[in-house]
Amino acid sequence: MTPLPSNVPHEHDRPVTWVALAGFMGTGKSRIGWELSRRLRLTFIDTDRVIERVTCLKIPEIFELYGEDTFRAYETEVVRRTLRLDHVVVSTGGGTVVREVNRQLLQARGPVVVLSASPETIYKRTRRHRRPMLEIGDPTERIRSLMAERAPAYDAVASLRVSGDDREADDVVDDIVEGLWSWADQHPELARRGPIAEPEKIMEGDPTSNTSFAEEADAAFLEGPEPESLP
Ligand code: S3P
Repeated sequence: MTPLPSNVPHEHDRPVTWVALAGFMGTGKSRIGWELSRRLRLTFIDTDRVIERVTCLKIPEIFELYGEDTFRAYETEVVRRTLRLDHVVVSTGGGTVVREVNRQLLQARGPVVVLSASPETIYKRTRRHRRPMLEIGDPTERIRSLMAERAPAYDAVASLRVSGDDREADDVVDDIVEGLWSWADQHPELARRGPIAEPEKIMEGDPTSNTSFAEEADAAFLEGPEPESLP
């Protein structure tokens, strides 16, 4: 076999070749996910951006035009497709892991890193961009109540928990990489699981009847990820 050039990482240079990031809005999933992907030399995928690309709509527009249930169905379709990939860091939306089916799908493929932050940090980070889930009542109250409501889902899915509060992205990434090495030691089979070609098999049912979204999503995944830029 021809030896790899020295600039191509061997698989043992990194703990995993697939990892998902979850956590509440504003915990830094996109930013940290992107930095983590650079560190591990993996491709960065943000499920919200995939949904926007497939629908040609912004997330708040999807909520306004079709409602939350449709958005959640799209989310599950995209999550399913990320299981077929390898060499990726997958950043999910804040509500993705609230659905049990999404938790099962992600956990079947590899580690799920849950990022956390204080309600104050989350408020500061989310107030400039529209988040449909926070547009109900007083935003700080809403953040606190939604965080409490979702805490069991984040707890249930976490392979690893890391705080993204008031810390340099590099330090957060250091913690994640260290935690992923320990996780991979403890879960050697799952760490080398590889792509799941037929994720439907572990689904409890069809998450959506919207086949056109599914077809478009297939096409988008075949095209490959968008040219990457810093989120
Ligand atoms: C949502 C979080 C958002 C986006 C949508 C719904 C949620 O993603 O998926 O607005 O339910 O928490 P971010 O966590 O990236 O803001």
